[in-house]
Amino acid sequence: MDKIVILTGAGISAESGLGTFHDEDGLWTKYPLEDVAMPEGFARDPALVQTFYNDRRKGAAEAQPNAAHFALARLQADWHGEVVIVTQNVDGLHEAGGALDVIHMHGELAQALCAFCGHRWPAPAEMAVNEPCPSCNGPGGRPDVVWFGEIPYHMDRILQHLDEADLFVAIGTSGQVYPAAGFVQEAAARGIPRLEMNLDPSETSPVFTEHRIGKATKTVPVWVREMLAHAP
Ligand code: APR
Repeated sequence: MDKIVILTGAGISAESGLGTFHDEDGLWTKYPLEDVAMPEGFARDPALVQTFYNDRRKGAAEAQPNAAHFALARLQADWHGEVVIVTQNVDGLHEAGGALDVIHMHGELAQALCAFCGHRWPAPAEMAVNEPCPSCNGPGGRPDVVWFGEIPYHMDRILQHLDEADLFVAIGTSGQVYPAAGFVQEAAARGIPRLEMNLDPSETSPVFTEHRIGKATKTVPVWVREMLAHAP
């Protein structure tokens, strides 16, 4: 077994103090996603959307990576083969924990995107309504996060990695949002082992071949130790 592809979701950052989305007390129970995570919501009320992401950017900047983020970085560094981390998270905690070449399929809070010309630049701590784009000077600055109805980033690369993987692992994701929720099906179609590490069984649990239920800060470091101990 050489190549491992790992998909992470909000659950891996929960113990760093960042909220999850679809859980009982998740973010989408407090803020309707139609208002803050859809292009139509941004067109309707850009101030509300910028404030929502400004708060989340601040929260992410203040958060610390936890034992699960550090363990994945260690696996990447010490594994004899390739470890690809694909994340739905926009918080940057994988990199803060030492991970490399993380694929951010839902964008990053630390980046800004011009809705007019597509230019990207490091987001200021607070983005304003009509945030000016440093490239086209238009007032099109928005958070560089993928909203519902938009196409996630780097899909070609991710599918290529899945096609080459010997093991697929999903950590802290509820399996409710596609296309990420469909990655386990891709792995199943190729017949490779599929491990889920989550607090509860997810929507896609039946498609996995192994389950480790519990908090990511407990399950992930144990799994990484086992992988490194049994590596050839
Ligand atoms: N350890 C492991 N798993 C946890 C922990 C924890 N400490 N805390 C919560 N979880 C699990 C929950 O049980 C849940 O199944 O993490 C999962 C989080 O699910 P979601 O809130 O749906 O987050 P995610 O799957 O990342 O959401 C996908 O939806 O709204 C969009 O763009 C947003 O990227 C996000 C996408």
